[in-house]
Amino acid sequence: MQQFTYILGIESSCDDTSASVICDGKVLSNVIANQEVHAKYGGVVPELASRAHQQNIVPVVQQALIQANISKNQLSAIAFTNGPGLMGSLLVGTSFAKSLALGLNIPLIDVNHMQAHILAHFIKNDDAKIPPFPFICLTISGGHTQIVKVTDEFSMEILGETIDDAVGEAFDKSAKILGLPYPGGPFIDKYAQLGNPKAFAFSKPQVADLNFSFSGLKTAILYFLQKEQQKNPHFIDENLNDICASIQFTIIEILMDKLKKAVKQTGIKHIAIAGGVSANSEIRKRLQNAEKYLGWTTYIPKFEYTTDNAAMIAITGYLKYLKNDYAEISTAVKARLKVTE
Ligand code: KG4
Ligand code: ZN
Repeated sequence: MQQFTYILGIESSCDDTSASVICDGKVLSNVIANQEVHAKYGGVVPELASRAHQQNIVPVVQQALIQANISKNQLSAIAFTNGPGLMGSLLVGTSFAKSLALGLNIPLIDVNHMQAHILAHFIKNDDAKIPPFPFICLTISGGHTQIVKVTDEFSMEILGETIDDAVGEAFDKSAKILGLPYPGGPFIDKYAQLGNPKAFAFSKPQVADLNFSFSGLKTAILYFLQKEQQKNPHFIDENLNDICASIQFTIIEILMDKLKKAVKQTGIKHIAIAGGVSANSEIRKRLQNAEKYLGWTTYIPKFEYTTDNAAMIAITGYLKYLKNDYAEISTAVKARLKVTE
């Protein structure tokens, strides 16, 4: 009889509770419970996030098993996010994973959330292109902005990263200034599609090497809007689409400039993106153009594997399972953890 490997992945590093079952690298289920509670605070409130994880974790795991149409006794191992993230949030998923693995007497696998964003590219969808080694991955999320050289599944090198805000924060903080709801990235993207990206010019930061800086851009946008609103109090309402398009254009230009520099520096033309901001329509378009005009081969994950999700934890767990790389039951969560650790 053929033996299948079923991995349950659990993700609880920030404000989404997620569970996923994969079978030999193919996703059978990927359930995500978003926490609406944070929207009215304009950002994630850690204490509320851990409480919501406590409420969500059991039904989310149950749903993942039901949708995968398997019983918990068929699981081969349990993978969970051990960092980086919010301590209280990580503890909920980790404690649950430990208890279930102990109860079922199956291996426990700790997963680095940053590696998992990148390794989401190894999910075996029918239509997915899997990047060959070595490749460059631009990880862009609400907490991180990094250019990573991936030499093999667990051998990664950070070529550059942000020295202040993450790119997702640049989107979210700009959106907040414009009075848009949290998280604002998708709203800026939506309005930008109706606007002129060259309507307003924001200067790009001068940062050495392959590093990024986004905090100055937010301040530049704030001062620009304050000045314009003094002349016309309705400036934002009357120009929302153009403002969003111009902000988005500037942010994506910054990312593309550094990617081009990374390609020049390494000679690697296989370029992947990962993380929540890779859902952005402009970065997707620009990468598709780079295939045509720069000779790159680009790898853009399916939308549901870009934002925080447990399928990326489960696929990373599967790759570690194949190497018999398990965690001790005494393993501790790590609020800070680099992609290289
Ligand atoms: O990876 P993710 O779900 O969570 C973190 O690990 O941070 O990323 C969330 C970030 C948020 O900042 C959100 O505004 C941004 O991704 N985001 C977008 C878009 N969709 C999500 N930013 C720009 N355009 C989008 N379409
Ligand atoms: Zn993430």
